[in-house]
Amino acid sequence: MSQVTVVGLGPMGSKMAETLLASGHQVAVWNRTASKAAPLVAKGARQAESAADGELLVVSQISYQAMYDSLGDARLDGKVVVNLSSDTPEALRGAARWVQERGGTLITAGIMVPPPGIGQPGAYTFYSGPKEVLDRHAGTLEALSEVTYVGPDQGLAMMYYQAQLLIFWSSLTSYMHAMAMLRTAGTSPMEFLPFARDLFTQLGSEGPMGYAKILAQEFEAGEYPGGENSLHMQAVGIGHAVAALADAGLETTMPGALKALFERADAEGRGHEGLGTVIESIRKP
Ligand SMILES: NC(=O)c1ccc[n+]([C@@H]2O[C@H](COP(=O)([O-])OP(=O)(O)OC[C@H]3O[C@@H](n4cnc5c(N)ncnc54)[C@H](OP(=O)(O)O)[C@@H]3O)[C@@H](O)[C@H]2O)c1
Repeated sequence: MSQVTVVGLGPMGSKMAETLLASGHQVAVWNRTASKAAPLVAKGARQAESAADGELLVVSQISYQAMYDSLGDARLDGKVVVNLSSDTPEALRGAARWVQERGGTLITAGIMVPPPGIGQPGAYTFYSGPKEVLDRHAGTLEALSEVTYVGPDQGLAMMYYQAQLLIFWSSLTSYMHAMAMLRTAGTSPMEFLPFARDLFTQLGSEGPMGYAKILAQEFEAGEYPGGENSLHMQAVGIGHAVAALADAGLETTMPGALKALFERADAEGRGHEGLGTVIESIRKP
């Protein structure tokens, strides 16, 4: 069993430390607000003397600035820092250089579960950075989730993470608009739930509504056949949906932004193509 120092004891870091302890690892913990270490020390963790106290540092904080603030001017010779915090891919690339200048190696990560999912079946984390270094610690990190390596570029794990979150946030916000609109007509969220579930399932399916795969194939081919459901038809349709939300007295920021995007793609002359053509407008703002 290995030794690991968990830096950052918010909801995520605390659950990571607890999970590593439960897997039999020797765990040290460090947090800016030191009192958060107490419950973990009670479970057998060691109170680290500093954020850099250890050879394998697993960091989970609000941003990469927090890592700079925590490590300060400590040397990191031979140490491996695995950072599962959120930031921009560019910030992660800069952090990789910062850790290297201090003698260490940075592995970046984006963990795809909330605290209750840590250590549970189905949990996975995107990792990027030098593969041979990750491989040395994969056995330890597997206690947290499946280890999914996406490449040597330290920005990449965050891009995969944010790609997933863009889908998560925007689709769930649309779901909230949908529930709120139906509620104004007296339909309860639970009455609508089976239909929402069916749509989420179908979008990931192989069928005619399997748009996750359809859009990926169209993007790869660079062709967006309009067929029997043109973008123009949908740009008009989303205008109706935005007006429906406004008529129901609801806010329309996000659906309104989608309407503007669809209308731009239409105005750019691709209204006869399919919905997938919107990606060309996204790529050329
Ligand atoms: N929660 C989730 O469901 C979830 C899921 C996947 C990924 N994530 C990511 O995981 C990371 C941690 O999330 P979280 O929910 O545990 O909590 P969080 O609120 O994002 O981060 C809290 C941690 O950051 C530390 N911190 C903040 N500013 C600091 C600074 N300047 N210097 C040192 N430490 C600082 C806090 O220390 P103090 O205790 O001293 O304030 C605390 O340990 C985030 O990047 C988040 O995006 C979260």
